[in-house]
Amino acid sequence: MKALAGRTAVVTGAGSGLGRAMALAFAREGMQLALCDVDERGLAQTLALVNGKALSMRVDVSKADEVEAFGARVEEPWLVCNNAGVSPLGAVWENSVADWQWILNVNLWGVIHGVRTFTPRLIERNSGHIVNTASVAGLISPPGMGAYNVTKHAVVALSESLHQDLRERGSAVGVSVLCPAYVPTGISSSERNRPAELPAGAKSPATQAKEAMMRKAVSSGKLSADDVASAVVAAVKEDRFYILTHRRIKGAIQARMEDILQERPPRNPLAL
Ligand SMILES: NC(=O)c1ccc[n+]([C@@H]2O[C@H](COP(=O)([O-])OP(=O)(O)OC[C@H]3O[C@@H](n4cnc5c(N)ncnc54)[C@H](O)[C@@H]3O)[C@@H](O)[C@H]2O)c1
Repeated sequence: MKALAGRTAVVTGAGSGLGRAMALAFAREGMQLALCDVDERGLAQTLALVNGKALSMRVDVSKADEVEAFGARVEEPWLVCNNAGVSPLGAVWENSVADWQWILNVNLWGVIHGVRTFTPRLIERNSGHIVNTASVAGLISPPGMGAYNVTKHAVVALSESLHQDLRERGSAVGVSVLCPAYVPTGISSSERNRPAELPAGAKSPATQAKEAMMRKAVSSGKLSADDVASAVVAAVKEDRFYILTHRRIKGAIQARMEDILQERPPRNPLAL
């Protein structure tokens, strides 16, 4: 079992949802906190919830220099949660170049910048743990959210590769990849964080319908952000790689694996 108390946890996207819940859960474990978000108001609210006991900084995770500047301010990072994410929807041919750039910049480059900034520092002390937030959309590919699926499959691949590279080098640094299904958070209103230079284009009726469906599915998610944060705490303590919080989704993951091995076209995971 890994001990958490007294160690420092870094959380990106800590101003809302899962990031905020993780910050609160780590504080309850007696950890010190280094929190960042692009949304200063949300971040200030999280800071108030931990009684001001955290290093907090406005950081856009899609910018390498901002993540590096944040890293330089964290004294002894031990647990690093690359969690910030956004979720524009739509069919893959309908997403604009701006949609693709925004989601890849935050969901994939944000994790890459976090891994590049913090991993060498954990390796140096041969101790620590990295948790990358992917999604079940990193293990299956539901329709109408292809750009999101692409980034989350990439985060799973990045995390598996990070784990393999650390094992090959004989490092004691651990890795987990967090793959939740629907959890009520602000994710379905992530347009609030879209940068002005990557504006949203016109949305087809099918995309608008998908957005309405997604808002309903997210808001009626059975597990809370706190439940997911508790699962993260348990996985870090146990040094467990895959964090699959929603057990019922395993059938869809199995179906995908079977379709691959049987060389069949993929079934719709939402229709299983
Ligand atoms: N809620 C779900 O159903 C669900 C399911 C699976 C995976 N996830 C993943 O969980 C992670 C957290 O999302 P959430 O559900 O808590 O949503 P959320 O919108 O409540 O929180 C996301 C946070 O990321 C921040 N953020 C957005 N762009 C940023 C940027 N460029 N730099 C720094 N911070 C930025 C936002 O300001 C926000 O505070 C995301 O990676 C999301 O894809 C969510």
